[in-house]
Amino acid sequence: MRRGRRTKTRLPLTGRISVPGDKSISHRALIVAALAEGRSSVRGLNSGADVRATLAAVEALGVRVAYDDNYQVQVYGEGMGGLREPGGPIDAGNSGTTVRTMLGVAAAIEGLTVFIGDRSLSERPMLRVVAPLRQMGARIDGRANGELLPLVVRGGALRGVDIELSVASAQVKTALLFAGCLATGTTSVIEPGPSRDHTERMLSAAGVAVVRSGTTVSVDGPQLPAPLNVRVPGDMSSAAFLIVAALLVEGSDLTIEDVGINPTRTGLIDALRAMGADIEVIETGTEGGEPVGSIRVRSSALVGASPDPAAVPTFIDEIPVLAIAATQAEGETTIRGASELRVKETDRISALVEGITAIGGRAEAHPDGMTVTGSTPLRGADVDSLGDHRVAMAFAVAGLVADDNIRIAKWSCVDTSFPEFLDVLGRAQGRLTA
Ligand code: S3P
Repeated sequence: MRRGRRTKTRLPLTGRISVPGDKSISHRALIVAALAEGRSSVRGLNSGADVRATLAAVEALGVRVAYDDNYQVQVYGEGMGGLREPGGPIDAGNSGTTVRTMLGVAAAIEGLTVFIGDRSLSERPMLRVVAPLRQMGARIDGRANGELLPLVVRGGALRGVDIELSVASAQVKTALLFAGCLATGTTSVIEPGPSRDHTERMLSAAGVAVVRSGTTVSVDGPQLPAPLNVRVPGDMSSAAFLIVAALLVEGSDLTIEDVGINPTRTGLIDALRAMGADIEVIETGTEGGEPVGSIRVRSSALVGASPDPAAVPTFIDEIPVLAIAATQAEGETTIRGASELRVKETDRISALVEGITAIGGRAEAHPDGMTVTGSTPLRGADVDSLGDHRVAMAFAVAGLVADDNIRIAKWSCVDTSFPEFLDVLGRAQGRLTA
């Protein structure tokens, strides 16, 4: 029997909310604190599985970490002298940032460090970090000659070198800057395009002289950071789901407070404004060298617009939810210059095009992006997140404006970055008050 079309009640998102701590900054805070000599205090740490993997990795390397239920951690770093060969493999789970950035540290620790990960991470490219670290003198081996996990690092002395990156990757840059702090001589990283600069900001805030000149970032080693005392700002990549939800659900007027608004992370706001989105950003202060602000979003009629491919690194993680916004925009939105999406937690281009098509949207894949044509009504359907947290949450946002429930397979993957997602959404919709 065919079910009649059901229109769900759409609850607008209103009031003031905040989102948990930035994942990228949280990883860096733990690692920088582990390299420092003395006690660091980090508040507002992201509570997702990726950051928990970095926390466990830091502990496995011999660093004492004390934490409470309030996302506050104390890290008792003892400099390089406190880092030692771990007793077993370091399991990074689903977290590319954990493996890639920590390779830069493990490369300098005497002894053997082995990195493993889940199925998705075990298929993601690692040579982009392994090859330049080898140039610095690191001995690293792994499947497919070091392209794939497991990776085995035999740490030792590193030397500073000049490295021209083939992809604009903050994870790779971060690994090399960490290795550069532990090496002898100057390490210079030349980026093909801008990538998020949290590492540079955090190292500078911790007293390390990081020098930027055009597209080159350099650090002189050996040079260790001083202990940190920071509060991690809210994660723009998590706020992104609430921003798009508020734009799409009529009658919304939502303010998200204390979000990190580092310009290397706010490309989604520019892309959405070009589509007609009513978004106001007010800078309210800085935390550990990072600008912080509140973001006010009012529901808006959107039109398709194609973002500048050169700006893609500033909203790479937000493309899943941007694609959902595009289904509700009049006309075409074409995203290009985003081939990196193919090697994220899943092939996000395929996952999005398939899911959008399943819920009644119009999407076409390109090798380096996609075209979404709107506006189309969205319908309830089964969608496979393929275990990718950002794909799962993007389709949950689609579910807010679909005519029936969207059932998302492997939903538990939201634990990767934003375990509180449903609670925060419920609060914004007035369904939850706690
Ligand atoms: C991140 C950098 C980006 C981003 C990832 C987090 C980081 O990856 O997509 O989610 O914390 O440095 P790439 O370095 O691969 O571009």
